[in-house]
Amino acid sequence: MLNCVIFDLDGVLVSTDELHYRAWKAIAEKLGVPFTRQDNMRQRGVSRMESLEVVLEKCPRTFTQDEKLALATEKNDLYRAMLTDLSRADALPGVRETLAMLRERGVVTAVGSSSKNTPEILQRTELGDGMQVVVSGLDITHSKPHPEVFAKAGERAGFAPQQCLVVEDAETGVRAGKAAGMRVLAVGAAKDNSEADFRFATLAETLPHWDEIFSAFEQA
Ligand code: BG6
Ligand code: MG
Repeated sequence: MLNCVIFDLDGVLVSTDELHYRAWKAIAEKLGVPFTRQDNMRQRGVSRMESLEVVLEKCPRTFTQDEKLALATEKNDLYRAMLTDLSRADALPGVRETLAMLRERGVVTAVGSSSKNTPEILQRTELGDGMQVVVSGLDITHSKPHPEVFAKAGERAGFAPQQCLVVEDAETGVRAGKAAGMRVLAVGAAKDNSEADFRFATLAETLPHWDEIFSAFEQA
């Protein structure tokens, strides 16, 4: 049975993936290093410090741990300034409809994100109220592709991995969901990921297909 759907946050529920990109781009420009959308794809799902390494790998000089921490803080300050504009309207297309449909069908809805800014984003977009379980970067030691975030969310919800579906937009996130023994629905940037069990361009596109998704769980 499908009992619990665990949503990634950035790029799945809210378009904060774009804000992460803009904030890292500003840091890269300050350092004078090239930074592309493709580089940013590799930052999806991984922690702030691991994301910083993607920016620094094209930089000829080395950085001390203190310098790295200062750069990560600077990026987070820029990013958090952008978050102040977030509102209820910033939930991605199909998100509220999907959440309402799942709750109506008695499915537990959860968040599994590597971001330490998860509580603030959920609060500003008013998406937090309906989430029975939230596991974020504040609760984990290993970020995706390690399965910790999804394993913890499933455990807290009280369901076995086979009863959980992960919704992800990042390659690292798809791998984390599979490593947790869960099925994965890939959207957005991960929509063509062959490791995912279900693939759609947006959550809005999933809406007519949930009967098929539920039956795939029943046949297992
Ligand atoms: C993930 C993003 O959700 O959170 C990553 O996909 C980001 O790109 C990570 O690095 C950590 O985010 P934060 O908000 O704690 O810096
Ligand atoms: Mg994401």
